[in-house]
Amino acid sequence: MSGQSVNTLDPMFRQTLGRLRQQSYAQGYSLPGAFYTDSAWLEAERRELFLPDWFCAGRVEEVEKPGDYFCFDYVGEPVLVVRGSDGELRALANVCRHRGAVVASGRGNQKKFMCPYHHWAYDTTGQLLNAPQMHEHESFDAASCRLPRLQCRTWQGFIFVNLDPQAGEFEAALAPLDALIRNYHLEEMRLRYLAEEVWDTNWKCLLENFMEGYHLTPLHRSTLHKVNPSSLCEHLEPGERHFAYRVGFSSRLPAERVGHGDLSESEMDSCIMFALPPGLAVGIGSDYCSFLSLRPLDPARVRVKMGLFFHGDGWSQADVDAAVELFNRTMDEDKQVLLRVQQGLASSFHRPGPLAARDLEGTIWDFYQYMGRSMAPPAPGRDTNGEQK
Ligand code: FES
Ligand SMILES: [Fe+2]
Repeated sequence: MSGQSVNTLDPMFRQTLGRLRQQSYAQGYSLPGAFYTDSAWLEAERRELFLPDWFCAGRVEEVEKPGDYFCFDYVGEPVLVVRGSDGELRALANVCRHRGAVVASGRGNQKKFMCPYHHWAYDTTGQLLNAPQMHEHESFDAASCRLPRLQCRTWQGFIFVNLDPQAGEFEAALAPLDALIRNYHLEEMRLRYLAEEVWDTNWKCLLENFMEGYHLTPLHRSTLHKVNPSSLCEHLEPGERHFAYRVGFSSRLPAERVGHGDLSESEMDSCIMFALPPGLAVGIGSDYCSFLSLRPLDPARVRVKMGLFFHGDGWSQADVDAAVELFNRTMDEDKQVLLRVQQGLASSFHRPGPLAARDLEGTIWDFYQYMGRSMAPPAPGRDTNGEQK
């Protein structure tokens, strides 16, 4: 036997996703638990969903001034996002061109980045500035040595990075979403809260949780239910790259709201929750928004970068703190229940369960459909059931 393990579940996963693509919503069941617990399947998701796609690294407000930077690990790839001294935003592979150490760490503002190992130094564009005592080497060309540049774009104030130099732009596919959220002007909002945590749950559970309104009233009875109850959820038509739902504000709340002057009354009076799978989920209100950017670590652990960004300047620190407190209390309720979900999904007694009305869990189905499109495309000449056309 070779040391290589064979993932015997892989065909079952792909057949399940292929079958889902043929079913109507009224036949919809949740996925088998192994989707959320199997490490070989997570590896397939990493390879087929995360690595090839654009991912949200954060908000442009994090890197406004020349020299501002932050670093992170994207499913095994160290990345440095930096505003160059020339004012341009770049994403660089954070891997030293000498013997491979990760060069920069954390976040801050720097004029140059020095590798801690042998002190090779790079400027804020990734160009090598200095390599001590390398002059005797016969073929090394310091002038052409630089940290590899990754594709980097901004959309709605978010920074997106792609590791694949051939990847095309993604914005055209988001036109329907743009139309839906345009008037909120996310690109003008200001980040006032940022946190990073590791949650003990599968990344899909966290995305599904953020993106369904069924649990808002029962789980968040003392927090979010008072603002956005489940009864006011409305499923929205998904696009090629996104899925979304709308949720209204409780009539018990004071009617006056702040928001961009372009917003209609009904836009002012509801939130839009959208996801750009695999990693980004955003909750939009007229006054402020929240976002989560997910990076799986293993089947039962996900790193989540999250933040709140606000419309206009009229926010005192106390107002921001109150929003952060509600967000964190709500997220804590989610975190606790997702521990139980992960535990239940691993049980031999777990079975897929029926999905609730489309307005409440239609987004879960949209997410499954995205996975089906991405990981169980029909073979040429066959439909998604594998039948000959
Ligand atoms: S590995 Fe970076 S300077 Fe040697
Ligand atoms: Fe929740």
